[in-house]
Amino acid sequence: MDKELEILEKSFSEELEAITTKEAIESLRIKYFGRRGIVSTLLEKIGQLPKESRPIVGKKLNELKSKLLESLHKKEISLSTADSFAQSAFPSPSFADNTLPGRPYLSGTLHPVSIALKKIIEIFQRIGFTIECGPEIESEYNNFDALNIPLGHPARNEQDTFYIKENLSLEDNSPGRLLLRPQTSPVQIRVMKKNQLPIRMIAPGRCYRRDEIDATHSIVFWQVEGLVVDKGISLADLKGTLEYFFRELLGNQLQFRFRPHYFPFTEPSFEVDGAIATQEGEAPRWLELCGCGMVHPKVFLNMGIDPEVYSGFAFGFGIERYLMVVHKVPDLRLFSENDFRFLKNLSPSF
Ligand code: DAH
Repeated sequence: MDKELEILEKSFSEELEAITTKEAIESLRIKYFGRRGIVSTLLEKIGQLPKESRPIVGKKLNELKSKLLESLHKKEISLSTADSFAQSAFPSPSFADNTLPGRPYLSGTLHPVSIALKKIIEIFQRIGFTIECGPEIESEYNNFDALNIPLGHPARNEQDTFYIKENLSLEDNSPGRLLLRPQTSPVQIRVMKKNQLPIRMIAPGRCYRRDEIDATHSIVFWQVEGLVVDKGISLADLKGTLEYFFRELLGNQLQFRFRPHYFPFTEPSFEVDGAIATQEGEAPRWLELCGCGMVHPKVFLNMGIDPEVYSGFAFGFGIERYLMVVHKVPDLRLFSENDFRFLKNLSPSF
């Protein structure tokens, strides 16, 4: 009989262990403790035992029965707690729909201007240009006078900007009032002042103007300045460099047109237009790409460089302007508004 009690305990424990539902608990209770259950059958068997061992075995069986009923009860409680926990985490199907798609994760990316800048820098670095930068707060001297735009010169009107009232001076002690630079050209002056010739540099940066804001005018925009100074630099170098750069940036089929223009700091001066090759017989659609010219001898003299020995060329273009042309962006303001819908279109990794 002892052996049978042992088997009873073992099989009951194993079956109890495997149970995961309340219904299964009930079936187990009936199987073991029901009127015709295993325990009742064993109790009946006690009657067939020798008289003296009946009370001992009976006691053992009753103790085992209480023990098993207790573990059954414990299991019942643990199952109903797990049930109510699951219900509170997912209260009811109307609150949680597991079939809903997850929320999309928006990761950031570079601004279209930064992407363009990266490309521009890569191209110029490939042909030996250095990357320079100057401050956005400039002196009147670096921005105007040194670039052959003295006080009263009409070119100052076009480049009207914001002046800073405070009586501060810049680290280079250049004279004049302080202003937010309306062009990157003063970086030419800063680099020439260092007196390390030859120079082959570009200077990208933010510029400011006191413009009426509309679709093609903004009070803040990006420019890239370029300057090359060496012995024997000619207009052919200017043409070759700019054509190489714009073809690398915009494609090999680009056609060029150099139109005479006026800038106070270059002589002669040009504006460069570009056109993507069109169908045969169709007139090309010219788009203004950049201003440029041969460095004016007066600028060299202002910097203590002998224009009889050195010559050079300079150029400047707006980054947003070029992006507007390439991506057919209708409004310059989109670049500074940070509207996701716009940025998504121009920044591929969004
Ligand atoms: N600074 C000129 C502007 O803002 C652009 C420019 C034109 C820069 C000709 C140059 C240049 O260096 O040679 O309109």
